[in-house]
Amino acid sequence: MCGIIGVIQEKGEVAPFIHQALRRLEYRGYDSVGITTLDTSRLFTKKDKGKIDEVHQMLNLDDLPGSIGIGHTRWATHGIPSMYNSHPHFDCNDEIAVVHNGVIDNFLELREDLIKKGHTFKSETDTEILPHLIEDFMNDGRSLKEALKMTTSLIEGTYAVVVMSTREPDKMVATRDGNPLVIGRQDKTSYVSSDIPAFLPVTNNMILLLDGELATLTIDGIDIEKLHNGQKVARETIKISWTADQAQKGGFPHFMLKEIHEQPDAIKGTLRLRPEIIEGAAKLISNADNLFFLAMGTSGHAAVAGKHMFASLGGVLPIVELASDFQDSVYDVITENDLVLAITQSGETTDTIMAAKYAKRLGARIVAVTNVVGSSITRLADHTIITQAGPEIGVAATKTFMVQLTSLAQLALALGELTAHQDPEIIAIKRSALEKMPKIVSRVIATEEEHARHYARLYYASPSMLFLGRGISIATACEGALKLKEIAYNHAEGYSAGESKHGPIALVQDNYPVIFVAPNDETRTRLIGNIMEMKARGASIVSVLEEGDGEIQSLSDSVFSIPRGVEPEFSVMPYIVPLQLFSYYMATLKGYDPDKPRNLAKSVTVL
Ligand code: F6R
Repeated sequence: MCGIIGVIQEKGEVAPFIHQALRRLEYRGYDSVGITTLDTSRLFTKKDKGKIDEVHQMLNLDDLPGSIGIGHTRWATHGIPSMYNSHPHFDCNDEIAVVHNGVIDNFLELREDLIKKGHTFKSETDTEILPHLIEDFMNDGRSLKEALKMTTSLIEGTYAVVVMSTREPDKMVATRDGNPLVIGRQDKTSYVSSDIPAFLPVTNNMILLLDGELATLTIDGIDIEKLHNGQKVARETIKISWTADQAQKGGFPHFMLKEIHEQPDAIKGTLRLRPEIIEGAAKLISNADNLFFLAMGTSGHAAVAGKHMFASLGGVLPIVELASDFQDSVYDVITENDLVLAITQSGETTDTIMAAKYAKRLGARIVAVTNVVGSSITRLADHTIITQAGPEIGVAATKTFMVQLTSLAQLALALGELTAHQDPEIIAIKRSALEKMPKIVSRVIATEEEHARHYARLYYASPSMLFLGRGISIATACEGALKLKEIAYNHAEGYSAGESKHGPIALVQDNYPVIFVAPNDETRTRLIGNIMEMKARGASIVSVLEEGDGEIQSLSDSVFSIPRGVEPEFSVMPYIVPLQLFSYYMATLKGYDPDKPRNLAKSVTVL
């Protein structure tokens, strides 16, 4: 949440680059935007509430002088979206500018102290205490770097901050604790940002800044040191395989649609992961007493699907928990023989990180499934699987969900081999079915996109819908409902079809849409019973069914068809695709931007 960027270059104006970098970071928050540059010993700022394009239209964000600057795109926590609450924030004399991602828990008391000392505040944010604290320390004769160090010793919470000052105009300093920062370097220019897409057009080499480290950026290079003792840190550069093109819309009207279309390639890339990566994780899992799957949101739905895959193929039954509630549910009943599989595409979700840290403190081992190299979860984990979706810019997760499912399927197969729960021949059949998934998903996109567009027009005015499934398809139903509510703002509930009779059926009346996820697996006959129950109460039935399933088709008002022969353990992968497309077309039909749903941000770094 919140995207930050700092750039220092030898010559030329830096604002246009920062403006474009912020557009590439906008998935992290879009309540407000701001850029401050430094030129001839003065700071120049443009900032306001609204999305970047709106603010740019009003203010022209490119028109700022200077070759050093910082920028911020905000997901509001403390204070409403407004010009005053927009970052950057400043000290009393407008000499120190700060951008911050995170939350300072003890800001109120620090703010009161600062006010008593005569500082004046312009915003309601927690961030604004930072430039004022730095100002005090600099007034005591400390350098910008030392002042930032002293400031971090006073604050509690999570932060990634970038600071620059007219008093030391040849540098910027950055530090973090709990929120990400990556550094880039190319041709006498240094970059620091929340995420690599910000500077991907110039370099795909990145240097990670870790918690408790401070970086000083100049045109000549980057120095990293430990905050607590000043010890220099030599950090290797990591080359990532993402390209700048992957972070462009590439002719699609929205990132979300592009990312839905990229799913076959994302699965292919993930299936090509080195076998030892999957086998290593499977070994750790097979040795564990208890296995916990921890995740949030869409990743949580992947976890639910993964549970079915692990049980059916590997003979291992994981305990699926919402990471946010893990600590409050397990009462320390975890040992060093247990294992947590943390599923988080961003690798930065605070709920998941905190839960994994908690489990680690109790001795459990951690395996991570994430899409982001070097993300926080990778540093906690004993073993990491990096999924190969490439950058996902749309806030609603689509292709990262698909690759999580792919990795969980690979893991379940490897586990099956280890535990011999399934006949090797069965495992071989399932493995070859998984290999065919890119083609199947491709075909679903090709045949069902038009249906999705059409059904969006049909159901566009329905304020509420139920998504129902049984067994593994509960994951598909819940994910379909989540997509619809997050981007089209429809009330939608994903539910077990079995459970639907125990309450939600009360919602159903004439023409109330109920979407059934109906693969041809062992739940089908019972699901037909649920379809009949809903039909008898006047529901309009939309089914995602197997091609040629005449029986369910005859009970349905609308259908999405999925090719025959999908293995039940992998059914979520093709069956979710029409529901992703349906949500996309519902959102666009209503005039909403599916890439930037209201109140959401891609990486949720608050508890
Ligand atoms: C939904 C969505 C969120 C995330 C959730 C976890 O489309 O994107 O529900 O799935 O915030 O995020 P990660 O996977 O980054 O931990």
